[in-house]
Amino acid sequence: MSSDLKFPPANDVAFELCVNGERREITAEARTHLADVLREHCGLTATHLGCEQGVCGACTVEVDGVPQRSCLQSASRFVGRDIRTLEAFAEDALSAALREAFSAEHALQCGYCTPGMLITARDIVRRLPDADAERIREELAGNLCRCTGYLGIVRAIQRVQKTFHQEGAHEY
Ligand code: FES
Ligand code: FES
Repeated sequence: MSSDLKFPPANDVAFELCVNGERREITAEARTHLADVLREHCGLTATHLGCEQGVCGACTVEVDGVPQRSCLQSASRFVGRDIRTLEAFAEDALSAALREAFSAEHALQCGYCTPGMLITARDIVRRLPDADAERIREELAGNLCRCTGYLGIVRAIQRVQKTFHQEGAHEY
């Protein structure tokens, strides 16, 4: 085979994203999905990649305040949207409470699913104050964990749910 094979020029596009409150200028191949841009162009590696097919939820981020997979659509489709990765919640009291509860309830082992779980868990606590264990499991259906059996994850969410709604959302 010839060593001077010519490949077509990369199909790069340039666009701007709002990630964790900051403007980011991105130049990437048009097909590059959001998770790759977050990890490789923005250095935000809390967003994990598992299946890259929309199944496992490891890549869950917040888009305009709603948890969403970041492996399914080209990053350029998120222009004008407010994207938040787990890094955005480092100082967030609710996320801190969830991290503590995940640890206390043994809600993680390898931790691969945990960033996506924490994004979804935060959304559950905020949106569904009365969700029982069954409802929490339903809400977690898009986030797969191959280690824990979910018991600890559900307990961790319930633990924070209780505190969050006793102390009032303003605490968070
Ligand atoms: Fe996106 Fe699995 S990596 S859903
Ligand atoms: Fe290993 Fe969830 S802790 S996949």
